[in-house]
Amino acid sequence: MGVFDSGVGGLTVLHECLVTMGHEDFVYLGDHARLPYGPRPLAEIRRFALEIGGFLETQGVKLVLVACNAATSAALPQLQEELRVPVVGVIAPEAHAAVQATRNRRVGLMATQATVSARRYDELVHALDAGVDLVPVACPRLVPLIESDDPFAAETTDAVREYADPLKAAGVDTVVLGCTHYPLVRPILQRVFGRGVTLVFSAEETAREVAETLARKGIENDTSREGTYRFLTTGDPTAFRTMGARFLMLPITEVEHVSLDELRAAAA
Ligand code: DGL
Repeated sequence: MGVFDSGVGGLTVLHECLVTMGHEDFVYLGDHARLPYGPRPLAEIRRFALEIGGFLETQGVKLVLVACNAATSAALPQLQEELRVPVVGVIAPEAHAAVQATRNRRVGLMATQATVSARRYDELVHALDAGVDLVPVACPRLVPLIESDDPFAAETTDAVREYADPLKAAGVDTVVLGCTHYPLVRPILQRVFGRGVTLVFSAEETAREVAETLARKGIENDTSREGTYRFLTTGDPTAFRTMGARFLMLPITEVEHVSLDELRAAAA
């Protein structure tokens, strides 16, 4: 199946998929040439997502997993309308997990500007429990810091502290990590919030939803085989490989470059 994100963040979801569905084949695309998505207008992110979805379809995938909250926020319904294969996003599984986890019904949301502006979390959380108070905080500095040479630098902790302050002041007991990059610095987040706050992220829930979708549609691979996985980036393959192996915690042998023109041509 095809999995994409603006960068390495989606590897948190791919990791879970690879361990849950070791018999499936995956192609992962990181759109590094256009990272970060978060500060961009929703219409532009939607265009990128449709190009990538169309491209992945030409690679023969049987399902597309949007492993990016910004792209899910901006484009999930349009992707589902345009593509022939099923499309799964990361927001619904997280909203569901957050509503189940909170005891005081005060939930924080840390996400990119695009995800906060799109208000998909508000809609989904309130559809499940209209009494939950959702407190959103846009965290524009985090994706560039996580994609930098030193994601665990003091600067990341400083930024997390600043973004956590209003959520602590609001007394939330649950925080949705509404960006697939954030679990990559999970220890920093957990230390800043303390053990009393439940951090919700999408990887496990999303992998479960993908596995269920394949099973219900009867399109799973034979479970006795071992699946393959490959990587594509619109940016620098060497940088992606170094960064990716660290975060995926599984070997990455080769990363292929795909140009933006190839993406656009495939989607046209
Ligand atoms: N991992 C993407 C997300 O989940 C990051 C978006 C960005 O590139 O800003 O939102």
